[in-house]
Amino acid sequence: MAKRVGFATRLGAIAAAVGSAVGLGNIWRFPYEAGVNGGGAFILVYILCILVMGIPVILSEFIIGRSTHSNMKAALMKLSPGKKYYLFTYICILGSFIVIGFYSVVCGWIIEYLYQAALGGLSGHTPQEYSDMFTSLIANPWRCVGWTMLFLILNFMVMSRGIEKGIERVASIMMPLLFVILIIFCVKSLLLPGAGKGLRFLFYPDFSQLSLRGVLDAFGQAFLSLSIGISCLVTYSSYFKDNTSLTKDAATVAILDTLVAILSGVMIFPAVFSFGVEPTAGPRLIFEVLPSIFQQMSGGYVWALLFFLLVFFASLTSTISLSEIPITFLIEEHKQTRPKAIMWTALFTFMLATLAALSFNVLDDIKLFGKNIFDMMDYAASNIFMLLGGLFTAVYVGWILDRKVVHDQLTNGGRLKGAAEPYLIFCLRYVAPVSIFFIFLYLTGIIY
Ligand code: PFF
Repeated sequence: MAKRVGFATRLGAIAAAVGSAVGLGNIWRFPYEAGVNGGGAFILVYILCILVMGIPVILSEFIIGRSTHSNMKAALMKLSPGKKYYLFTYICILGSFIVIGFYSVVCGWIIEYLYQAALGGLSGHTPQEYSDMFTSLIANPWRCVGWTMLFLILNFMVMSRGIEKGIERVASIMMPLLFVILIIFCVKSLLLPGAGKGLRFLFYPDFSQLSLRGVLDAFGQAFLSLSIGISCLVTYSSYFKDNTSLTKDAATVAILDTLVAILSGVMIFPAVFSFGVEPTAGPRLIFEVLPSIFQQMSGGYVWALLFFLLVFFASLTSTISLSEIPITFLIEEHKQTRPKAIMWTALFTFMLATLAALSFNVLDDIKLFGKNIFDMMDYAASNIFMLLGGLFTAVYVGWILDRKVVHDQLTNGGRLKGAAEPYLIFCLRYVAPVSIFFIFLYLTGIIY
């Protein structure tokens, strides 16, 4: 069994969880999902999801991880001996591969933009030219696969040298910086002509624009963004010390994550309307809009470089946490050495990521339900795997797990008040199963 060590400080543990949560989900995916789903109403539902399901599921994963100091499979075996709940771990592993498969392609795009920024390619063009630039990037299989592979190689190099903690330390400096930069870009975006329209789109809830699919998307987005539903936070919290307040930590992760998502929206949408980009552009949205924002700033070259560098680090702390799910599993449950576990995880990830990277070019005629492979992975990861995974975690902690374990974890064995317990139990017991039921009806086409 690999030696288990705790995080040295509360900040170390929180920084790792925030590092996992804050990433492309907030900066790239949140704006595009909000754009596709009509803006304000989507965001309202999104915040509701964070409150009634996001925070409770983070807490559930923390409870499972810290009470057992084990990975998901071992934890479920310890908490429910003789039962088959541990089989759920395999779904988590599959889910983590699917997420990292499409996610690393977007990380590859970030590296391309970092490269372009360094060459000065992100200035002096019209919004249409920036749009064409992205189109030609994704149409080029070599570039897409090349950047994706470069990103993955960096990711697995960091992991095989055991310097994740170092990266997390770097990230705990980069993250606040990212936050400051986002605020600066928000101000810049808000000063653009016609910015008001973007703000209205973002914050005025027009429910006629929100479909049932949009509600499902809001749930999926919340789960992807918080890194819940595929046992990532179980693995991280298995290293937490016994004297930290899980409730406070869960709330901190959720608040910071949501703040970064909303700031990204405030940065993107005023510019979307000001430059006449379609808010429904989908995954390409931020890549079309950001260069035009940088261009408006004096020293735009430096801003662009800095921004993509920070986003790169934010993504890396997320993919590290994602790849840690199968790696820890292989080491602890299949007694593999760390290098071997990393090799298998890397191999499988490379395969899936290549398929995703080729789905805009060589494989673009492979479609299911009108979606290419990338879109399918993106949709399946958040709206099916993470969402259902998170809700099952909720039902497990709400209905099946011994209440004493829950109480002990929330109060640290009676030392804290644990005031959130009734709220937590209510959400886990009632909101989660009702949500699962509706999602099931939706996915099977019974309601639409
Ligand atoms: N939460 C990350 C983001 O918003 O970019 C993505 C992610 C990381 C999802 C880790 C799942 C996970 F286990």
